[in-house]
Amino acid sequence: MQNPKEYIAKNKDRFLNELIELLKIPSVSADPKYSKDVLKASEIIQSSLLEAGCDIAEIHETEGYPIVYGEKIIDPKLPTILVYGHYDVQPAEPLELWDAPPYEPVVKKTEIHPEGAIFARGSCDDKGQMYMHVKALEYMSKTNQLPCNVKFMIEGEEEVGSDNLGIYVAHNKEKLANDIILISDTGMIANDVPSITTGLRGLSYVEVEVTGPNRDLHSGLYGGAVANPINILTKMIASLHDENNHITIPGFYDKVEELSTAERTEMAKAPFSLKEYQAALDIDAVYGEAGYTTNERNSIRPTLDVNGIWGGYIGEGAKTVIASKAYAKISMRLVPNQDWEEITELFKTHFESIAPKGVSVKVTPHHGGQGYVTPIDTIGYQAASKAYETTFGKKPIPQRSGGSIPIVSLFEQELDSKTILMGFGLDSDAIHSPNEHFGVWNYLKGIETIPYFYQYFTEMTDS
Ligand code: BES
Ligand code: MN
Ligand code: MN
Repeated sequence: MQNPKEYIAKNKDRFLNELIELLKIPSVSADPKYSKDVLKASEIIQSSLLEAGCDIAEIHETEGYPIVYGEKIIDPKLPTILVYGHYDVQPAEPLELWDAPPYEPVVKKTEIHPEGAIFARGSCDDKGQMYMHVKALEYMSKTNQLPCNVKFMIEGEEEVGSDNLGIYVAHNKEKLANDIILISDTGMIANDVPSITTGLRGLSYVEVEVTGPNRDLHSGLYGGAVANPINILTKMIASLHDENNHITIPGFYDKVEELSTAERTEMAKAPFSLKEYQAALDIDAVYGEAGYTTNERNSIRPTLDVNGIWGGYIGEGAKTVIASKAYAKISMRLVPNQDWEEITELFKTHFESIAPKGVSVKVTPHHGGQGYVTPIDTIGYQAASKAYETTFGKKPIPQRSGGSIPIVSLFEQELDSKTILMGFGLDSDAIHSPNEHFGVWNYLKGIETIPYFYQYFTEMTDS
């Protein structure tokens, strides 16, 4: 592989502008009001794949948003890399917290990104990271250096659970056959501390509804005499953790894999400053499960968090009322071996069982998925590690992430292949938050690193 740097430097402005055009489309999968935009994003991906050198790029319809499938098969005897990414984004709300509108991308310097970062919803998660692969293909294809076959599968429903992708994969096993799956939809430790994600947490997401009296009541006339659903709900939620911040759902930890001291010692070698972590979030202390470090709490340990809670009167001024209903959205991050459907069941049984007389409880599962861990003694990991070493001048650190990409474990199950998670985002890039951004340096570094993965993976597979 010739050094891609020169090609990237020459085309840098165009690479940036193409991404900026894509970021202007509000492809929010969660909100039907953006359905036309989501479809428009899929069409742009399709044409960008053709321009980058794919022989085929098609829009495959599903019950929901389509999957963009592309391929360039140069020789069936050569290995095949399947690239996965998503073109849908999270809702941008609350809009007032953005410094610039979320779909009018701006490039601005920050302390962490002195060469500038692109601010827009989806810049890092995942349009920017997904588009690195399109541009990496362009480089290899335009300079006649593509060393193997490549397939692209870019979906539009990742942020809402990938339901239709699961069905698509199950029905297209042959079409999607590959030797390795490559995804850039995670992060790394820092620009001078490259890392490769070796684990993702699973997820169970539920909504709960607590119902008390059949109508909203005067809180003076009835207060103290009937169960107040909001009081009850908050009490029930509070009881889900004990004083050590262990989750109290019976059976919740039964299948949790305990890491050996050796593994935990290895993990603790990753550079981390608690002081900087706290300063970046403006908190004076971290909080979590007793007996585990911050990095363990957010990667190898399961968690339970309320993501939203509502009910009663929240308008201007005061209204004296006992609401009939209270609601909460709760997510549980799971670790490998915990089965998300089983955990959802355990939650439901437990939550219903702790409801006092005087209220009724409804638990509605939303979506979920299994966690994932990938070994590092595989050709795929070694090829990725060598690629980072080539472009960063440093060996990357294997690191488990706290986030979830549920479809990854399904890929392994259905397609029988491992996934390599080459993420180039930073935790501080504010994915899912206001002012999401992606470093220009990171974007270009990704485009530079990916071709080396292709080369090393092909070489190592041959030998
Ligand atoms: N790209 C993220 C997941 C991620 C980010 C993993 C950073 C590791 C590091 C993905 O788009 C995402 O947001 N996943 C959701 C789950 C999904 C089912 C909505 C998540 O983790 O909350
Ligand atoms: Mn993502
Ligand atoms: Mn996301």
